[in-house]
Amino acid sequence: MTELVLSETRDRVAILTLNRPDKLNALNYALIDRLLSRLDQIETDDGVRAVILTGAGERAFSAGADIHEFSLSVAEGADVALRDFVTRGQRLTARLEAFRKPVIAAVNGLAFGGGCEIIEAVPLAIASDRALFAKPEIKLAMPPTFGGTQRLPRLAGRKRALELLLTGDAFSPARALELGLVNQVVPHGQLTPAALDLARRIVSHSQAAVASILAAVARGLNQSIAEGLLVEAEQFARMAPTADLREGLNAWVERRKPTYDGTWTHITRPAEARRQARRLDRTASGDMPGDRPSSMPPL
Ligand code: COA
Repeated sequence: MTELVLSETRDRVAILTLNRPDKLNALNYALIDRLLSRLDQIETDDGVRAVILTGAGERAFSAGADIHEFSLSVAEGADVALRDFVTRGQRLTARLEAFRKPVIAAVNGLAFGGGCEIIEAVPLAIASDRALFAKPEIKLAMPPTFGGTQRLPRLAGRKRALELLLTGDAFSPARALELGLVNQVVPHGQLTPAALDLARRIVSHSQAAVASILAAVARGLNQSIAEGLLVEAEQFARMAPTADLREGLNAWVERRKPTYDGTWTHITRPAEARRQARRLDRTASGDMPGDRPSSMPPL
């Protein structure tokens, strides 16, 4: 049987390739499930620090959800379609959005529908100058279902997003860059090297700090600024007792390159971190003047 998600690791970076090129890498249920299970494996694999997600073949990153397949679910009624299609797709984009290692989409061609929604969800994206984007669901008489009505307006602004959502018009990589959907556009042949270069510039830092910045941004973005600042304080409180933070600060003082211990699973005390963040929050707002979190070691 064909492997639906190809996987290789280069320099601690996993390259995952959506592999249905003859179907423009349309996201059928099996491919989504396979991608989710690959992400599960990668999350606990200490040999992998970042992920690049791309599409097989010359034409597509992904032409979106598999229309042939989800049409059958729709024919069985709303409950079945929600369970098999919508929930599955939303689980994938939510997983990519909140993944604790950086995911970089390398958009090698068409990114339509669910393909575009993956780009909206991942934290970083680089597009080939041959990429093409679209929100074509309106042409099928349906709203997007993998987060497209929610993430694109937050990324690009309500009116810019609605124009794309309501017309279904395809748009260029240059427009995707303007909208904040991708970080850069590069010549097609430079796509993988550019994605690997971005990944390398990230994985040289403390993995724990990378995870905490990803979590702070993913969780804080959809909250009020006050709640977001609490999330940020909580992430700092998680980092405060780590060897990595001490090493980063010591290395700066001693004018040398830091050497991090390379682990991140030791940040496993969310309840304690939340308590510390709340205390920091109350201290900052003047409720508890001078009260330092007692379990926080001096740096
Ligand atoms: N679901 C299932 N199969 C798809 C697909 C999708 N979203 N997109 C493309 N394919 C399949 C086609 O059925 C075709 O396979 P076949 O030769 O076995 O029939 C193959 O991929 C190539 O696509 P084709 O339509 O022949 O290519 P094209 O160059 O003429 O058109 C697109 C390219 C992207 C414009 C067209 O494929 C398209 O409109 N796809 C659907 C995009 C979409 O609406 N996505 C959102 C879904 S919610």
